[in-house]
Amino acid sequence: MYLTKDEEKYLDGEKGEVVERMFRLLVNLGDIYNADKMIPIGSVQVAGVSYKSIGDPGTEFLEDMANKDTKVKVLTYLNPAGMDLENWKELGFPKDFAVNQLRIINAFKKMGIVITSTCTPYLAGNLPRFREHIAWSESSAVSFSNSVIGARTNREGGPSALAAAICGVTPNYGLHIWENRQPNIIIKVDAELSFNSDFGALGWYVGKQVKNKIPYFIGIKDANTDQLKSLGAAMAASGAVALYHIENLTPESDLVKTRGLEVINVNKKEIKEAYDKLNNDKKPDIIIFGCPHASLQEISYLASKLYGKKLKKPVWICTSRMVKEAAERMGFNNIIKDAGGNVVADTCMVVSPIEEMGYQTTGVNSGKAANYLPGFCKQNVCFSNIDDLIKEAL
Ligand code: F3S
Repeated sequence: MYLTKDEEKYLDGEKGEVVERMFRLLVNLGDIYNADKMIPIGSVQVAGVSYKSIGDPGTEFLEDMANKDTKVKVLTYLNPAGMDLENWKELGFPKDFAVNQLRIINAFKKMGIVITSTCTPYLAGNLPRFREHIAWSESSAVSFSNSVIGARTNREGGPSALAAAICGVTPNYGLHIWENRQPNIIIKVDAELSFNSDFGALGWYVGKQVKNKIPYFIGIKDANTDQLKSLGAAMAASGAVALYHIENLTPESDLVKTRGLEVINVNKKEIKEAYDKLNNDKKPDIIIFGCPHASLQEISYLASKLYGKKLKKPVWICTSRMVKEAAERMGFNNIIKDAGGNVVADTCMVVSPIEEMGYQTTGVNSGKAANYLPGFCKQNVCFSNIDDLIKEAL
């Protein structure tokens, strides 16, 4: 791989031991994938933030880096942590867990990383531009930035994202290169898609069929930001899809070539099949919205549905701290709180230890959450649309 004179100095340890180690990691990664050079990046999103995911070894590794005065070079955001960083006590998160989670957060903060803890950085002040190179980790955020924004990122692991943040570059391979962003399968959709969960069911089904490919959708007439984030998140979860195109909707859809590609048809039947497969048919004992993290519009909708009502079951709405603040100003959080629900920031149902908090069946409207909850959180899943879940909770 070609390296500039400055980059060679990184490898000689001129910028310190941590930079040398991190840059070497990027060079090794680039060598594995035949990258020709390093490219500057506009921003980073680092995964591996929850104590549940990284445990003591990860916590100690981060503290060691932070204590060596390591600083990030570009705007760097964090994926969700394992708890609401402010209201963890009130929400019943275990104290031991909280102490360790806060050690992780403090280490990131010391490195200059913005303590955002969200999988929707693009809704919270980290919005890349079209064709901008970035190094993001979280699969739904990677899918959204590549597909809906047209920025360019591979799906980074926690360490490679951190290395990119510290060095300000990433190896040029994979989805950073235009030729690799071409679709290799067409998905022809003939089904009515109304709720976000319909898009989640579609994404989950398609992910299973196409695994690692780049699908080009035709037949989706319209979709808003929330629906696109649901679609991409579910596809990333079931099929590691990091980029998709939708005819007339996503920015690269009329720039790519589709002639001669295999076509998979998806109709009402396949969407129903996805709902059935993701559903354990049990009644939820908690209902959690906000996977990916809820937008202000989603919180507003939930507040309108819960206004003046009393919930019989716990309801959480997971979101970023920034969106929670905006919802607070609009009075949405109080409406939800008066009904007995909670707007929970910084975390989500998958990375928080809900299985240790006495919950066994979780209701979600997210294909991605429904995919992961049984394995990651030992949960039964009730996967349904937002309106039916609210009815279930009232
Ligand atoms: Fe985000 Fe957690 Fe879902 S990280 S995409 S809310 S599983």
